[in-house]
Amino acid sequence: MLVAPSILSADFGNLASDVQAICDNGCDLVHVDVMDGHFVPNLTIGPVVVEAVAKATTKPLDIHLMVENNSFFVDLFAPLKPEFISFHIEEEKHPHRLIQKIRALGIRPAIVLNPHTPVEAIEYLLEDLDMVLLMSVNPGFGGQKFIPSVIAKAQRLKQLITAINPACLIEVDGGVNGENITLLADAGVDVVVAGSFVYKHPNGVKEAIDSLKV
Ligand code: DX5
Ligand code: ZN
Repeated sequence: MLVAPSILSADFGNLASDVQAICDNGCDLVHVDVMDGHFVPNLTIGPVVVEAVAKATTKPLDIHLMVENNSFFVDLFAPLKPEFISFHIEEEKHPHRLIQKIRALGIRPAIVLNPHTPVEAIEYLLEDLDMVLLMSVNPGFGGQKFIPSVIAKAQRLKQLITAINPACLIEVDGGVNGENITLLADAGVDVVVAGSFVYKHPNGVKEAIDSLKV
């Protein structure tokens, strides 16, 4: 299992050291939640802060856009050379065009599905994607409760991916912890995002990250 801690649960007063802490303790990607206050009822960070994260990290960035104007935000973050940029299918009229744009910028394209969105919504995009992110909470906030139906959804997506594009990764985001990690691994999930579980773990980020590496 690859582990992508979400810096949304970090201490923003000590952001650089909180980013270094996950990088020094075995994380695989640094997950960055960009919210615009329109697509989701929360507002987080823009290029100035993400630039500071990019400076502090020794691991690749996984930028999760929760915004209305995806193409504009792709242009904003592309100079930071993230590994992945993911955008929500619910908020994009021309997803195929945007996938091509992200790839042309040298970034790996990913699509995010909200809890209600069926995997069939992206069936004809799978061959062009490097990752699909399944939300296991409603996007907008850290620290929410895991929605268990994502397990069956991941299994179904795994079948489609195996048939269409086996190299495409499955990522799950929201409410991931030491209890649901084995179910996620068994369902074929490759990458988990974890915010509060990692940053609020009583025994520190190393133990939290280690316990997700199943
Ligand atoms: C929610 C974000 C998540 C969030 C995860 O909209 O996409 O990445 O930070 O936080 P936890 O792991 O606390 O649910
Ligand atoms: Zn996220």
